[in-house]
Amino acid sequence: MSNIPNLNQADPIPESAREEIGELLLTGDLFRYTNDQSAVLGLEQNFARKIGSSYALAVSSCSAALFLALKTLNLRKEAKVLIPAFTFGAVPSAVVHANCIPVLCECGTDYRIDLDDFLSKLKSVDAVLISHMRGHTSNMDKILLHCKRLELPIIEDAAHSLGTTWRGKNIGTFGQLGCFSFQSYKLLNSGEGGMLVTNDPDYFAKAVVMSGAYEHNWQKHQGDREFFEKWQNQLPLYNMRLNNLSASIVNAQLPYLDQRVENGRHNHDITAAKLSGSEWIHVPEKFEQEARAPDSIQFNLVGLTPPEVSQFCDLINTMGIKLQVFGHSKDNARAFWNWDFLPVKYNLPKTREMLRNACDVRLPARLNLDDCQNIAELILEALRQIKNDVAA
Ligand SMILES: Cc1ncc(COP(=O)(O)O)c(C=O)c1O
Repeated sequence: MSNIPNLNQADPIPESAREEIGELLLTGDLFRYTNDQSAVLGLEQNFARKIGSSYALAVSSCSAALFLALKTLNLRKEAKVLIPAFTFGAVPSAVVHANCIPVLCECGTDYRIDLDDFLSKLKSVDAVLISHMRGHTSNMDKILLHCKRLELPIIEDAAHSLGTTWRGKNIGTFGQLGCFSFQSYKLLNSGEGGMLVTNDPDYFAKAVVMSGAYEHNWQKHQGDREFFEKWQNQLPLYNMRLNNLSASIVNAQLPYLDQRVENGRHNHDITAAKLSGSEWIHVPEKFEQEARAPDSIQFNLVGLTPPEVSQFCDLINTMGIKLQVFGHSKDNARAFWNWDFLPVKYNLPKTREMLRNACDVRLPARLNLDDCQNIAELILEALRQIKNDVAA
């Protein structure tokens, strides 16, 4: 048995959250609109500043942010929205929830959008939702260029990309709207929660109203009065607000974000370097434009038969490492063939093949050098045992 820490354990919430939470418990002011200056508004202002966006709207989840982002675009019923086939099931679900049809695009062995398939489908869609799955950034230069040419709006699902940059600019700020998650296991964790960012005052006002700013509660948001007045009573109220408790918990973690990003990148790169020495593993390179903020590592098994992949999964888990192969476990929510709720069935051989060999291991920012080396060593040892090859 190993001395690997529990990789599924979340990080402790900083001590600084306690005072604010204690105050909230005393007053009971958990609702963001009770006071003019709430913890939620404070978080929105801090987040917008940190990410370099004009406006931020805190909501109940990233899925809620994706749904609201789609609704602000005012797409027709059954509009087609292009998404990567490698993403979490909540993403096509948000598209379906917004009365649109997800169009799935192939992803390559580097986990990013396959540009040939992307381009071949682009002309037939009404909007693009780029999910930077597990923080792997698709080629934003190309995506922006082609979407601009066809005047297609882009929503970024940056659930796993907080702190990731492309040419020095934060992921989530390239599209018309960007969406982040504070669900457990993200770099900022409040159990549940999300953030929608945009530079567009009109989109922002629409999203604020639809998030549940009933009557004149939009006055307790950043933003311009003229846009809010324009949308007053014109849009449904979906009530997807964040509460003050969750906001206080995220606010307390924001000052640690840069350090977490640095630690996560360091942990990832050490582990990746060690794993890359094996002939049975391929760790895809990042783009040179990209500075990643990983809290997990993905790598592909090479030359293993399906039964060997099964044996590897069983063995590594008995060694104390929680590892999943996305396309291997039954009903995995990241395997597109399990999304039976889709109106259209997809046959995407590239993505399917990638998912059958793509491994996923959490690497929380709190791990140290020894932890990362032990994790890599155990993965290599499991492969040696499966392949019975000392040189693995
Ligand atoms: C890629 C991706 N997008 C969106 C979401 C949805 O986030 P939330 O749980 O905050 O709704 C998740 C969930 O982890 C995710 O993995």
